[in-house]
Amino acid sequence: MTDRITIRRPDDWHVHLRDGAMLQAVAAHTARQFARAIVMPNLTPPVTDAAAAVAYRERIMAALPADADFTPLMTCYLTDAADAAAIADAHAAGVFTACKLYPAHATTNSAHGVTDIFRLAPVLERMQAIGMPLLIHGEVTDRDIDIFDREAVFVDRILSRLVREFPALKIVLEHITTAEAAAFVSEGPATLAATITPQHLIINRNALFDGGLRPHAYCLPVVKREKHRLAVRAAAVSGSPKFFLGTDSAPHVVGAKESGCGCAGIFNAPFALEAYLRVFDQEGALDKFEAFVSENGARFYGLPLNAGTITLVRGETPVPTIIGQGDTALVPFHAGETLGWRLVN
Ligand code: DOR
Ligand code: ZN
Repeated sequence: MTDRITIRRPDDWHVHLRDGAMLQAVAAHTARQFARAIVMPNLTPPVTDAAAAVAYRERIMAALPADADFTPLMTCYLTDAADAAAIADAHAAGVFTACKLYPAHATTNSAHGVTDIFRLAPVLERMQAIGMPLLIHGEVTDRDIDIFDREAVFVDRILSRLVREFPALKIVLEHITTAEAAAFVSEGPATLAATITPQHLIINRNALFDGGLRPHAYCLPVVKREKHRLAVRAAAVSGSPKFFLGTDSAPHVVGAKESGCGCAGIFNAPFALEAYLRVFDQEGALDKFEAFVSENGARFYGLPLNAGTITLVRGETPVPTIIGQGDTALVPFHAGETLGWRLVN
């Protein structure tokens, strides 16, 4: 049995670092494990231009110890007013790595999102020309579509058309949750990839109602039936270069989760690598772990692989029931459980 695994330093290709006190509270959890992270722009107000992204990047670095070896990769929140030239300039200047598509009202802080992505064709054409990835929250927002079907319907109605009309555009379907999304990405062109969160590998929709309503298992896209979890798991451990790590760690203070209208988001940053590694271990796929966490994403984005390594060892890792206090009290994914791996160094 392998009890120790040393791999190239990994990256998190989808994380919410928030701002202000919450940023101070959560940033180090990500920087401790990952060399780089794609930082989501759904702040209030959203990060829609280069000046806001540069200022936010500075706040992220200021929240970390001076010797932190961590690079935040910034994303542009697309709105109906997105401007192709401004986005291309910010990409050329090294400010924006990618653009994020939130369909309007799909999720947290998406009110300024895009009402019809095909009306942004000039932006997508420019991104395609310069090799700038489009990161997609892939859910339709129609109230009459069942919430458990919104991803599959998005793949069918929107993503398939995007892939057809923008054949050279790099697209990352973020946080996939369904067999339909896994199959579509798997069988799609090399320009199409997907991130996978720990929660969508580990829990199914029963976790939302396990003995009562469980707000800490609620995120968007919502966790699905067991057959979908198994399909997403199979994709993650398949060895396909189209799938890579994106935690979607999305902290909300405990009171905002345990509420009459609880916020969507699972705070998985503190033990993300341990959680992913346990999945690969359970699947007998430890040999596929390094590519998923440290190689596939960088290659897809066209960025260099990281130098340096990290080591995880088999061992009991108790997860606290709560992390932080007051305005930043957070219930982590796996709260109160014990994970079987531990990140050393
Ligand atoms: O669960 C989620 N939380 N899904 C998202 O798409 C947004 C995120 C957040 O920002 O809280
Ligand atoms: Zn997210």
